[in-house]
Amino acid sequence: MATMDSLIGLVNKIQRACTVLGDHGGADGFSLPTLWEALPSVAVVGGQSSGKSSVLESIVGRDFLPRGSGIVTRRPLVLQLHKTENGQQEYAEFLHLPKRRFTDFALVRKEIQDETDRITGKTKQISPVPIHLSIYSPNVVNLTLIDLPGLTKVAVEGQPESIVQEIENMVRSYVEKPNSIILAISPANQDIATSDAIKLAREVDPTGDRTFGVLTKLDLMDKGTNALDVLEGRAYKLQHPWVGIVNRSQADINRNVDMIVARRKEREYFASSPDYSHLSSKMGSEYLAKLLSKHLEAVIRAQIPSITSLINKTIDELESEMNHLGRPIAGDAGAQLYLILELCRAFDKIFKEHLDGGRPGGDR
Ligand code: GDP
Ligand code: NA
Ligand code: MG
Repeated sequence: MATMDSLIGLVNKIQRACTVLGDHGGADGFSLPTLWEALPSVAVVGGQSSGKSSVLESIVGRDFLPRGSGIVTRRPLVLQLHKTENGQQEYAEFLHLPKRRFTDFALVRKEIQDETDRITGKTKQISPVPIHLSIYSPNVVNLTLIDLPGLTKVAVEGQPESIVQEIENMVRSYVEKPNSIILAISPANQDIATSDAIKLAREVDPTGDRTFGVLTKLDLMDKGTNALDVLEGRAYKLQHPWVGIVNRSQADINRNVDMIVARRKEREYFASSPDYSHLSSKMGSEYLAKLLSKHLEAVIRAQIPSITSLINKTIDELESEMNHLGRPIAGDAGAQLYLILELCRAFDKIFKEHLDGGRPGGDR
């Protein structure tokens, strides 16, 4: 059955396949293939230590991202979450290691670090070449999230001054795409007027249509103050409601407080807070994950006509490319061409069903 879940799954598959092909044909990492760019995903944006990694881990319900001070995320991480049937074993898979299933998430963290160093060479440099990671789990919602290096105002020891601008350019290249959904992370213990995430989001999305504001570290605000002005949309209005978050503190991380316990503590925090209990059903990382997944589905649905026409164009191009090359084409690039062609056909079929609303003979 053509459910919205399978639509997000198909978008995920096409995005992955296009990236592999893009590695063969793309001149530089910023010029991602057109089809990839047309497909919506959620880009996570914020200043360093604003809580980006913590929010991602909460959404996944797993502890798997490299952490530390300074610029830890130095390549974009495209994180595709696939919901599986209840009771199924949770595992992760990297695009660059297709035959290996990771069930130990500490090894996922190590592989992200190693794969980052492989391209940036253990320096503190950044690279626009993304790492692709898929997580299959009964405990996630279908969603594609992109973790990006944290925005910063000053270079640290060992980094060139230009890194500040390089990071901003890289982040901007993701969030300026009209199909990009922006998850703008700001810490509640800093003035929202100084938020790097909001500043960039406002620049590329002035109407706030595709920006989701997330306020982390509510538990770290000064006693006697609260963030209701922001959370209730008075301080900075966005089209979508703000979501407040309480992630694990550094002390929790040091004590290995697991994510399931952390999610429960977060729920309890909102339910029992005199300031926020009236908003508690619309706060927290689990609510945020559902909100984003629902929105991503809606965006895909709204874009069915334009994506379909792009896919048909891609099918035509791929078919003529293959006629030109003759078959079978040797090697990975050939296999990827076939894969994308097959996916495009499947995608086109499902999209047509949605458009035609099941009308017999509904031929567009
Ligand atoms: P990133 O640099 O934006 O990825 O930020 P991290 O997720 O690595 O978080 C930076 C630090 O802030 C870590 O020590 C986290 O434990 C801490 N932190 C993040 N969110 C919260 C929060 O909501 N409450 C508390 N108390 N600490 C948080
Ligand atoms: Na960090
Ligand atoms: Mg981080």
